[in-house]
Amino acid sequence: MSGTWAEFWDRPNSVYCGERHLIAHFRLVADELIGALGGQTGLRVLDYGCGEALDAGRVAGMTGRLHLCDSAPGLRARLAAKFAHEKRIAVIAPEALGDLAEGSVDLVFASSVVQYLDRAALDGFLGTARRLLAAGGRLIVTDVIPTDNRIVDDVRALLAFASRNGFLPAALASLVATFFSDYRRMRARAGLAAYDDAAFVSILAAAGLSGERAPRNLGENPYRRTFVARKAA
Ligand SMILES: C[S@@+](CC[C@H](N)C(=O)[O-])C[C@H]1O[C@@H](n2cnc3c(N)ncnc32)[C@H](O)[C@@H]1O
Repeated sequence: MSGTWAEFWDRPNSVYCGERHLIAHFRLVADELIGALGGQTGLRVLDYGCGEALDAGRVAGMTGRLHLCDSAPGLRARLAAKFAHEKRIAVIAPEALGDLAEGSVDLVFASSVVQYLDRAALDGFLGTARRLLAAGGRLIVTDVIPTDNRIVDDVRALLAFASRNGFLPAALASLVATFFSDYRRMRARAGLAAYDDAAFVSILAAAGLSGERAPRNLGENPYRRTFVARKAA
């Protein structure tokens, strides 16, 4: 098993419990992103750490431009091929975000990614987000893991989502499989970043962003947190 989360995510993995989970998960992420647009059409959106982005076509239809950004090269190649016909979608590597003009993005959406970033990478990402945000633009960071996170909460969240979406048997089987999985070994070795609310707001502030915790987490896991930030005045 090779070393970093970025490498982990570029290999086939068993994080999702199967096709039904994958589809339901990315449908929910797309619904949350569309909800975050607040009914405005034509916004320029950066989906940072987009993953498989199965419903990106539906999201793109509500935007002026959708940048799908992920560190995994194999995944980017698949996304670029899949969405080649969708002129509003651009697939981009994190290293290429510097090529986008300052103030050229209205919404930076980072769903379930900051837990895989070390502090330097998080600071780098926040600095990039700040530079890209247009006046009045927003950064939304979801799935921030609190420092008092309990595995039992993650299990409850998964089982509740599975039950609502008709894949409970697969979720139960996957909990057993996860115990022996690459993900568990990576998590034990590389860890997942966790923050309490005040610490995350301070990190945002240090990057020139004024942020606060949202009333609920966007996505599958109600025990994690979402923060919304804007460029500090
Ligand atoms: C848990 S998945 C989240 C996918 C999707 N955003 C969602 O909400 O389901 C994390 C994604 O972040 C990507 N990632 C990890 N480190 C990254 C980095 N430094 N920059 C950009 N993407 C990264 C991984 O390749 C993976 O696709």
